[in-house]
Amino acid sequence: MAFDLAQYMKDRAALVERTLERQVPSRNGRAARLSEAMRYSLLAGGKRLRPILAIAACEAVGGAAENCLNFACALEMIHTYSLIHDDLPCMDDDDLRRGRPTNHKVYGEAVAVLAGDALLTDAFRIAAEPSRAGVSPELALHVVAELAEAAGSVGMVAGQVIDLEGEGRAFTREELEDLHNRKTGALFVAAVGGGARLGGASHQQLEALRAYARPLGLAFQVADDLLDVEAATDHVGKRTHKDADRGKATYPTIMGIEGSHAFARELVRRAQAALEPFDERAEPLRALAAYAVERKQ
Ligand code: IPE
Ligand code: IPE
Ligand code: MG
Ligand code: MG
Ligand code: MG
Repeated sequence: MAFDLAQYMKDRAALVERTLERQVPSRNGRAARLSEAMRYSLLAGGKRLRPILAIAACEAVGGAAENCLNFACALEMIHTYSLIHDDLPCMDDDDLRRGRPTNHKVYGEAVAVLAGDALLTDAFRIAAEPSRAGVSPELALHVVAELAEAAGSVGMVAGQVIDLEGEGRAFTREELEDLHNRKTGALFVAAVGGGARLGGASHQQLEALRAYARPLGLAFQVADDLLDVEAATDHVGKRTHKDADRGKATYPTIMGIEGSHAFARELVRRAQAALEPFDERAEPLRALAAYAVERKQ
């Protein structure tokens, strides 16, 4: 029977959401509004692609989803914090996210900044708590360190600075690739690498899975740039047609729409080629690569 990606994503997303619900509970008391703001953005839907990729990488090397659930949740928390901050007036200044008013529109800028801070910080507590006994402290430490590197000052945060400082400026292809690899690709590589490690990947498997994740992460951001140009706000749950207004560096501006679609397809081909040594347990990863660029939201 053909592999059913929609069902796979639905099942894994449900697993992640149950764990998020438990790991980020609503709290009473004087800081109740903080946990409300965190949960407002975290439990607002979203494709859950980074945690799903972590689980799929774990499963591709024979691990069980349960081995990497805390890590998967940490990825989604870091991603959600990055979205809350990305939408702030001092950054992309957006008012709609995941089909709802952005965090700062509901809770105000100060609480939105702090909800992001709390999601980021709590993510590392959760990532440091192995989902199952049997994960060596050394392995857990590697995974956490890689996650920090991907999210921090040489990865995602650096990418966000380059993105903002580049508004209104022309980028070369190399510069744009570097920007997208940092702001988006790095977390994809950490997701796949961490999931694989927690699933017991060999060194060779880990290298192959990273070679899968690098073009995939870039392709995902190329597709995001294309959706900004081509999709309707109602479909994607965030404002579209904004990148050009803000003078953002995107693939459609330097390669055109058709050129960007072709590049995204080529990146998916490269990602899938890296999976050649794997058996049918990597089928979800193969299908997720195609999904990353064919998605409509
Ligand atoms: C949006 O990410 C921000 C980018 C890095 C392109 P997603 O498209 O994964 O957003 P959600 O999680 O589904 O809302
Ligand atoms: C977001 O890129 C990257 C991060 C949040 C790290 P964008 O600014 O293009 O994402 P959207 O389009 O607002 O979701
Ligand atoms: Mg941005
Ligand atoms: Mg944005
Ligand atoms: Mg975008």
